[in-house]
Amino acid sequence: MAGKKVIITGVPGVGKTTVINSAFDKVTAEGITYQNLNFGSFMFEVAQAEGLVTDRDQMRKLDRTQQKRLQKLAAEKIAAIDGNVIIDTHASVKTPAGYLAGLPEWVISAIMPDTIVLVETDNDQILVRRLSDETRVRDVEGARSIAEHQEMNRAFAAAYSMLTGCTVKIIVNADFLVDKAVDELAAVLR
Ligand code: AP5
Repeated sequence: MAGKKVIITGVPGVGKTTVINSAFDKVTAEGITYQNLNFGSFMFEVAQAEGLVTDRDQMRKLDRTQQKRLQKLAAEKIAAIDGNVIIDTHASVKTPAGYLAGLPEWVISAIMPDTIVLVETDNDQILVRRLSDETRVRDVEGARSIAEHQEMNRAFAAAYSMLTGCTVKIIVNADFLVDKAVDELAAVLR
């Protein structure tokens, strides 16, 4: 069974995992079955076992070759999963050497998504959310730099659409309006 593959992306701190988890609960309550997979967790499992990192925020600082190897291993595992799948990941990862495609050709072609979702909001809102989130080691960067990352993610998403024929859906997760974002994502999943 092929199922529906929905890739969900957004810069760190935009709240994509918050939106995904609520939309997942909503469609599950309606009897629609999805597996909710976090791409970074698949990578982290290997990176931690190999002693490369001790927390998930260290992965984007690994050298490019290591990150690409971990990406490939994660993609192979995820591509082998049947049925409806949500993949929580990144259109691009900001590394010290520049933007790394989160879903390079060998990853996106293995997954062949139906839709790629970009969760976005205003840059200053993301900045505040990062500063308020004490559970993670978030990159501290200015609103201009966050804006650049969000722009780059649109460019990467267009490239993924060209490679696979998937649609690109932009969902805004604004302050005080998380329910609206959840409803929009649930509609994509139905
Ligand atoms: P990942 O686990 O995806 O980490 P992340 O980017 O930090 O994403 P999170 O899910 O933690 O943040 P989020 O933006 O979803 O925010 P959250 O919901 O927590 O990836 C980890 C690592 O794996 C990456 O750094 C990378 O190294 C690697 N990786 C993953 N995919 C990869 C790939 N394809 N290729 C290479 N490497 C890859 O919310 C944040 C805060 O905002 C919370 O406090 C929340 O309460 C708040 N919030 C949310 N919504 C709202 C709202 N509407 N209003 C106000 N506050 C809100």
